[in-house]
Amino acid sequence: SKPSLLILPGDGIGPEVMAEVERIIDWFGEKRGLEFDVTRDLVGGAAYDVHGTPLTDETMARAQEVDAVLLGAVGGPKYDSLPFELKPERGLLRLRKEMDLYANLRPAQCFDALADFSSLKREVVAGLDIMIVRELTSGIYFGEPRGIFREGNERVGINTQRYTESEIARVARSAFELARRRSGKVCSMEKANVMESGVLWREVVQEVHDAEYPDVELSHMYADAGAMQLVRWPKQFDVIVTDNLFGDLLSDAAAMLTGSLGMLPSASLGAPMENGRPKALYEPVHGSAPDIAGQGKANPCACILSFAMALRYSFDQGAEADRLERAVEKVLADGVRTADLIQAEGASPVSTSQMGDAILA
Ligand code: NAI
Ligand code: MG
Repeated sequence: SKPSLLILPGDGIGPEVMAEVERIIDWFGEKRGLEFDVTRDLVGGAAYDVHGTPLTDETMARAQEVDAVLLGAVGGPKYDSLPFELKPERGLLRLRKEMDLYANLRPAQCFDALADFSSLKREVVAGLDIMIVRELTSGIYFGEPRGIFREGNERVGINTQRYTESEIARVARSAFELARRRSGKVCSMEKANVMESGVLWREVVQEVHDAEYPDVELSHMYADAGAMQLVRWPKQFDVIVTDNLFGDLLSDAAAMLTGSLGMLPSASLGAPMENGRPKALYEPVHGSAPDIAGQGKANPCACILSFAMALRYSFDQGAEADRLERAVEKVLADGVRTADLIQAEGASPVSTSQMGDAILA
């Protein structure tokens, strides 16, 4: 049977960039014999407008049974005054929570033609292709106790970093599985020198490695040293696995190694399903960009590259993912640019659909 895909375009530029992905999906069906069982549905403000909720139970159930979910973006000023539970973002949060997507994958990939967008020197970033795996559902953002308490005559603010062995082991497995599909190298980052949770993190990652993934090359680094190395010489890394807090910081820093928000894909993975593939949601890092929505200006590359990640990590189509990424690379090398990728005055941007045309060609 065909692999199944749930497409949730969402709000703002979400549907605009997703339209280009849908043309690419059709192309794979026609030209490569790679067909998907595609379902389309609403999420975010678009779902609220029709159903009065940012995610219906039916959509949630469908998300649980498909091989992969591809999401555009949610949100917009029209929905800012809605109560918390009805806000578009709640739709996305419910998907992440109920699918239990504990591994957040943020690639930092720098196409040669865009190396001048980086805040670092061209030779440091050109051709860069690394993957940060951030634990997403535990750690200091969720640990108890938390709150602001009174202690004597002053207030104290408390968050708790807490990781169980199984929480560490499962995200480590996600990282090792990825490494096997890439260069076979994982660097785990924590602060085992000053944090107990870091000591456990290092031990468990090493144990999972030794027992299940001895073929993968594993190294450990303190997260502060890792931050320095990431900026000094990022190409030394392939897969980096780290906790929720450090991953939040390291992945945002890594994103800026590569330049534009319009180019950044992401994935969130959960536990393996019956077919052995992880539950998965793929989405661009950017939001619904209300400032340019409806104008045909959005860069579809982040969403297209998110689909390439789905090809590689959910559908075992690494060669087809390479094909799609090479098409994006070629188009950029040819000088085709949406407005967000233009630095100099005078250069003329292409529209969202013209960018899609160029990639298809
Ligand atoms: P944003 O990512 O939507 O936009 C930030 C800036 O980058 C804007 O100037 C926008 O025009 C530009 N930009 C973003 N994506 C682009 C693309 N593909 N091509 C060209 N330019 C692009 O973030 P912002 O403005 O903070 O949030 C706007 C809305 O999106 C809010 O409602 C926010 O809650 C929501 N949001 C949703 C996310 C999601 O669905 N995962 C993530 C981030 C924000
Ligand atoms: Mg962040």
